[in-house]
Amino acid sequence: MIYLDNAATTWPKPRQVLDQMVERFAAMGVSPGRGSYDAALEASDFIHGTRTKLARFFGAPDANRVIFTANATDALNTALLGILKPGDHVITTRLEHNSVLRPLYHLQQNNVITCTIVPFNQEGFVSPQDIKNAMQSDTKLVVMTHASNVLGTIQPVKKVGAVCRARGIDLLVDASQSAGQIPVNMEELNASVLVFTGHKSLYGPPGIGGLVLHPDLEIEPSRFGGTGIVSSSLVHTREFPHRLEAGTHNLMGIMGLSLAMDYLSEKGISTLYKQEMELIKELYRGLFAIKGVELYGSPKISTHGHLAVLSANLDNLNSADLGAILDGDFDIAVRVGLHCAPLVHKTLGTHKRGAVRFSLGIFNTGADIDHAIRAMEQIAQ
Ligand SMILES: Cc1ncc(COP(=O)(O)O)c(C=O)c1O
Repeated sequence: MIYLDNAATTWPKPRQVLDQMVERFAAMGVSPGRGSYDAALEASDFIHGTRTKLARFFGAPDANRVIFTANATDALNTALLGILKPGDHVITTRLEHNSVLRPLYHLQQNNVITCTIVPFNQEGFVSPQDIKNAMQSDTKLVVMTHASNVLGTIQPVKKVGAVCRARGIDLLVDASQSAGQIPVNMEELNASVLVFTGHKSLYGPPGIGGLVLHPDLEIEPSRFGGTGIVSSSLVHTREFPHRLEAGTHNLMGIMGLSLAMDYLSEKGISTLYKQEMELIKELYRGLFAIKGVELYGSPKISTHGHLAVLSANLDNLNSADLGAILDGDFDIAVRVGLHCAPLVHKTLGTHKRGAVRFSLGIFNTGADIDHAIRAMEQIAQ
C-alpha cells in the first residue's frame, strides 16, 4: 500500500518508537500518580518529564499547564466547554474541523454563546483583518486552526495573535495538523490555548493528545473524578494539571508520544518538513499537468505557507469513486469526502462530491509520488 492519508493519522509509526514504547510499558506500566512504590513514582516522573518536554516544544511557560487528553477532539471540548460562559461571543473560521465547529454549535444551540465564522480566500487563507472586523465588545475567544486539514494552508496565526493581544481576547490555536511539522510556539503566536494530537505529525500512537494553557487563562473542568490527590474531598481539586485530568492516564500513549518526539528531534523536524514539501510540490506539478484534474487552494504550494497536504478532483467523478479506484486498482490510500471540514467544502463548491486528499508523511518517497501521478494519469485517460 502507498499510504497518502497522513493528515488523518501518520502511518507507519517509526518501528523503534513502537518497540521502545512496548518495552517501557512492560517494565513500568503501573498506575501513575497514585501509588508510592518505586514503579508508580517512576511512571509519575515519566509523565511529568513528558509534560516538561511538551512545554519546551510548544514554548509554554508552565509544564503543569500541559494537560493530557485522549486526542485533539477531547482537548477542544475540554477547552471550549471550560472557557466559554453564557453571553460570550466567539470568532472562528470556515476552515475548521468538526471538532471545533460541533462543540461551538452545541454551545450556540444551547444559547450559551454567539459565534461569527469568518471566510477564507480563494487560496485558502483567513485574513487577520476579517477576524479583527468580527471582534465585538463581548468577544471572549478566537478559535482557529494553525493549518487547514483539507488545503494544507498554514494560517497567519501570529498576526491574529497580535490582534487578539491588542484587544485582550484569548486565542485558541488548533495545532492538530501543524504540530510536529513546523514550529508551534505558544508565546510567539500569543496563544492562550494550544491543542495538539499525538497520532498525526508527532508520530505517536492514537489515544493521546492534549492542551497547553497559558497561566493567565481561566478554565473550569467539565469532568470530575479521581486524581490521586486530596482524595478525602468531594470537590475536584483546582490544582493543575489535575483540574482537567480525571482518571487513570494513558501511560502507554504518553510513553509513545514522548519517544516519538525524541525520534523527530533526532531526525530534525525542519529537515523532515522540507523533504515532505519537495514531494508534495512534485505531486502538485504532476497533477496540475493532467487534463481534468482540479486542484484546490493556492496555485503555488510554498514551503512557508503549506503543509504537505493537497486536495483534488478529476472531471466530474465523485471523490468516493476516485478514491475507490486509487485503492482498488493502484493500492493507493487517500482520504475522500469532506474530511470533517464541511464548511471548507461548502466554500469550494465540493460539498456534494467531496474531494480526494493526498497527505504525505516522513516515510513517503519519490517513487510513491510517481506512482500516484501515473495512477491519476491512467484514470484520467
Ligand atoms: C485540524 C484538525 N483538528 C482536529 C482534529 C481532530 O483530531 P483527533 O482525531 O486527534 O481528535 C483533526 C483530525 O483530523 C484535524 O485535522
